Amino acid sequence: MELAEQVISKYINRFKSQPQYLIRAPGRVNLLGEHVDYNAGLVLPAAIDRATYIACSPSATPHSTLWAVDLNQEAFFSAESVSAKTQADATPLPEWAFYPAGVLWSLRQENLSTPAMNAVFSSNVPRGAGLSSSAAVEMGFMLAWQALGGWEMPALQLALLAQKAESQYVGVNCGIMDQFASACGIKDKLLLLDCRSLEWKPLTLPTDIAIVIADTSIRRKLAASAYNERHQACAEAVRLLQKSLPHIRALRDVRVEDFNRLSDQLPVKLERRARHVVEEIERMNQVEALLSAGKIQEFGQLMNQCHASLRDLYEVSCAELNSMVEIAQTLKGCYGARLTGAGFGGCTVNLVEQTHAENFALTLAETYQARTNLQPEIYITHAARGAELIEI
Ligand code: GLA
Repeated sequence: MELAEQVISKYINRFKSQPQYLIRAPGRVNLLGEHVDYNAGLVLPAAIDRATYIACSPSATPHSTLWAVDLNQEAFFSAESVSAKTQADATPLPEWAFYPAGVLWSLRQENLSTPAMNAVFSSNVPRGAGLSSSAAVEMGFMLAWQALGGWEMPALQLALLAQKAESQYVGVNCGIMDQFASACGIKDKLLLLDCRSLEWKPLTLPTDIAIVIADTSIRRKLAASAYNERHQACAEAVRLLQKSLPHIRALRDVRVEDFNRLSDQLPVKLERRARHVVEEIERMNQVEALLSAGKIQEFGQLMNQCHASLRDLYEVSCAELNSMVEIAQTLKGCYGARLTGAGFGGCTVNLVEQTHAENFALTLAETYQARTNLQPEIYITHAARGAELIEI
């Protein structure tokens, strides 16, 4: 049974009525521009064909009741209890409930109507794998409260409120990329977003190119604190570089030549972090021209460079991700391979000639398993539409 049908049928069993709304909110894969969104750079994600599905209706109770099918856990909370970061009976919120609770908190800050709901949700975006399972949950509940509250807001605005939920409520100081991609995805398109101006445009990959996602199956603990640490390092680098470049507001404003000239003013570790960002932003500046000219080979090279930089300078890779990338880069038809998302485990993204994609996936899986003794999950993905209400 499809996930959408499953959440509906579970809703009916649990709440003894038909749900009023069904929502689908996708995860995302990022092709290039990693760890640059919170440095005001450009990013190139696509929403993917894996998503969170939510079945919901208004509730007669003063609190919302949410059933997370995948964990088989329930949480219930109200706008008031959420402010105290608890459930309605003052017990702690389970970790997964911070995402929907954060959305409620963020909407209440805007004084938007957020009626209590009964909801059942389930997702086939793997958790903690760099494919934005949390942004999918956030965008799903954004749409749920939008439908129940009877107000309307542009998708990008909703994404900003979801980002606020994640950074200020959940406590992961993220950029806008994930929520944006989940909100604004377009079928068969990559999304080129300027994280400073928030202007964006769809870009097309040639139809004979496949996007292959390879999940190492590794999940790292403490990824959130390591992520926040990277974010802080970038802010610190800006502060130090401002002594010589007073006009800069973000690493986006630092040209590679200036960075090279001034890099010895930064402590060694900070220099490596900032260099990744400055050079990655420079790589991103080439993307539109390359893709418009169909220069996939060159684009793939940028992906490979990005991985090396995330591994050696930003230090967010791990042995398993490096193995997955090294193997992929030797396989026939592979233009580029790199870790995708925040890192610290999770998935790689690979651009592969369509005719070789099946073989690529098989050989990559076999070789990775032989090398690591781990069972990877590898699949060809397709750029999908953003979060939406589905007719039921
Ligand atoms: C996570 C964050 C994003 C972005 C990526 C790294 O997915 O949520 O905002 O910073 O890491 O590019």
